[in-house]
Amino acid sequence: MSSLHVLWGFLRNRWSAPSLDYLTPRSIAGRTVLVTGASTGLGLEAARHYARLGATRIILGVRPLRKGETAKQNIEDSLQPSTSSKHEDAKGTTIEVWELDLASFASVYTFVERVLKELDSLDIAVLNAAVSKTCFSFTDDGWEETLQVNTLSNILRAQLILPKLRASRRKSDTGDEWIPKLEFLASQLNWLAALNKPETFDGTSQRYGISKLFLIYCVREIATSLSIDEGGRPEVVVNYSCPGACKSELAREWHTSWVKSFVLWVLQATICKTTEEGSRTLVYATCLEEEGHGKWIHNDAIEAPGKLVESDLALKWQKRVWDEVGQVLQGTRPTSQYNR
Ligand SMILES: NC(=O)c1ccc[n+]([C@@H]2O[C@H](COP(=O)([O-])OP(=O)(O)OC[C@H]3O[C@@H](n4cnc5c(N)ncnc54)[C@H](OP(=O)(O)O)[C@@H]3O)[C@@H](O)[C@H]2O)c1
Repeated sequence: MSSLHVLWGFLRNRWSAPSLDYLTPRSIAGRTVLVTGASTGLGLEAARHYARLGATRIILGVRPLRKGETAKQNIEDSLQPSTSSKHEDAKGTTIEVWELDLASFASVYTFVERVLKELDSLDIAVLNAAVSKTCFSFTDDGWEETLQVNTLSNILRAQLILPKLRASRRKSDTGDEWIPKLEFLASQLNWLAALNKPETFDGTSQRYGISKLFLIYCVREIATSLSIDEGGRPEVVVNYSCPGACKSELAREWHTSWVKSFVLWVLQATICKTTEEGSRTLVYATCLEEEGHGKWIHNDAIEAPGKLVESDLALKWQKRVWDEVGQVLQGTRPTSQYNR
């Protein structure tokens, strides 16, 4: 990749959000939508879009309930008639705050149990929550936090909610078919060849990139093996997206020196999108039908995911990661209701 190509990518980032005109006529009205990591950043803004577009029920999956309640209030206030001309679209939307800590497998199981018991249908699931850590730390389950939050827990939760998503595929009275959507937030950082540079192995952005690359491998397996019907059509449209660099709280741990803080500030002030603009990519990915299945959605388009995902070697890595993640997750299952 040439330097000019990289520079063009940076410059283009700021202006590459999907347009609001594309999102507005989509069939979100009447849907039940789950957005995780909705307390702030891209998740919060995506949830606001779903409310604006008329979703019936929105579940905000958040770590501290208090932060989730604040986010819910924030969305509701922004859709009041006095502040939004889109109030008509938001009429009848119920927003609920449900606790979910991806650093704990037990929390994931409790959350999924609620999804299976309390939701009549699940039409759209946006698995957005993630961390970008600067320090190595173990979760109570004994995993490095980035790997558990960004990869293992997201895949575990996806596998457990797939039956509910599949069962939510249906035809309307007019004969139109609705195929549920499952979206994962990946990151372009998987293209940084992080796996190929031993000298940068200890860098924490490398760990974030690896956790997202592993996530992508697993999502591609889910898309090809777990969400297709007997006729080869998707029962659930599964994809992975990246909104490009956005001004969010993701880099909250990176303010470890004034130099880093300054560089972040410059990047955020120049090339980064706002979280509202970035969140359009999240919503856009869930508005795609079968053409978006198994695909990489970058900014405002379906793109080829690149060699780290599509080369012959990458396909071998994908199988290996999928097998290893499967073995790890199998060992997390509580003995009761999930042993089937
Ligand atoms: N910003 C970017 O430039 C960019 C670019 C490409 C992809 N992405 C992806 O977009 C997604 C959203 O990122 P963002 O930029 O909006 O970051 P953010 O502002 O830091 O939001 C991350 C969200 O994840 C939640 N979260 C973190 N750890 C969690 C845990 N253990 N359990 C449950 N929730 C947890 C956070 O909740 P708390 O508030 O409780 O911490 C927050 O709601 C991530 O998957 C990220 O990798 C971001």
